[in-house]
This record gives sequence, structure tokens and C-alpha cells, in this order.
Amino acid sequence: MSDIQRTLVLVKPDGIARGLAGEVLRRVEAKGYTLAAVELRTADDALLQAHYAEHEGKPFFGPLVEFMKSGPVLAVVAEGHRVIEGFRSLAGATDPTTAAPGTIRGDLGREWGLKVTQNLVHGSDSPESAEREIALWFPALAR
Ligand code: PPS
Repeated sequence: MSDIQRTLVLVKPDGIARGLAGEVLRRVEAKGYTLAAVELRTADDALLQAHYAEHEGKPFFGPLVEFMKSGPVLAVVAEGHRVIEGFRSLAGATDPTTAAPGTIRGDLGREWGLKVTQNLVHGSDSPESAEREIALWFPALAR
């Protein structure tokens, strides 16, 4: 079985506002992954509530959706060998304060003391999530 996968990467509004979209893409490409689709867009409630559906009911759900629609995001489909796990490794831990140096969040993220964690990027967490999320953000690429 092939280990070539695809994943959905989002550069979140904080990453766009700080001019880090190119740096994220650079790290993805430097790792050897291929960009299959890239689109800058401002997401609406329907898309974000579907995207984060598994977290509905958690205390951060509402603030996270509000944050994610506060500005444009760069939606990316990246392809490569075990890219789902690989990109999450590149991204680092959820909390930028404790994310390891060398990771996107560890090198570039910081704690702002805001009510919502602004951690620069999203990456799908499983093959099922990746296909579900790619179908939401890029319907033409749905399988
Ligand atoms: S959980 O509860 O363990 O499933 O949460 P986790 O996998 O760490 O994170 C799920 C997504 O929610 C985001 N998150 C938050 N956003 C804002 N504020 C707080 N406090 C917060 N905690 C978690 C986290 O970044 C994940 O979103 P993505 O877009 O996948 O990074």
C-alpha cells in the first residue's frame, strides 16, 4: 500500500497577518512535500463549524471559529509520503509556548495572553480528517 497521502494545511489569520504564509510554504516544500492546491480565502461560519465539528461544545469552539474568520487564511493541500503525520510534526505542539524549537509554532508562535490560542497553522490529524477537510475547503478535489 502506498504511503503517499494528502493533508489540509491552513495558515491561520495570525500567520497571514504576520506575513508568515511564505515561511510556512517554504518549510512544507523544503521537507519535500508537493503543493497540490493553494487558496487565500476568508472562511464563513458554515465552513468553520463544519471544519471544527468534532470540537463543538468545547469551551474554545466559539472563540476559535471567531478567530478563524477574523481574516483570510491560506488553505493548502500538501501531498507526500506520510504527510499527515509529517506536517503535524513540522507544526509542533498546539501551545506555541511549549512547542519544540525547530517547529513552526515553536520557532514562530508565541503566547499573546488572548482568550483564543493563535498558533499559526492547522494540519489534518488523520487520513479520514484530511479527506473530510479537503472536501470542505476544495470540493473539486473531493474523492
Ligand atoms: S483537543 O481538545 O485535545 O481535541 O484539542 P486539540 O487537538 O489540542 O486542538 C483542537 C483544535 O482546537 C484548537 N485549540 C484552541 N483554539 C483556541 N483556543 C484554545 N484554547 C484552543 N485549544 C485548542 C487547536 O489549535 C486545534 O485547532 P487546529 O486548527 O487543528 O490547530
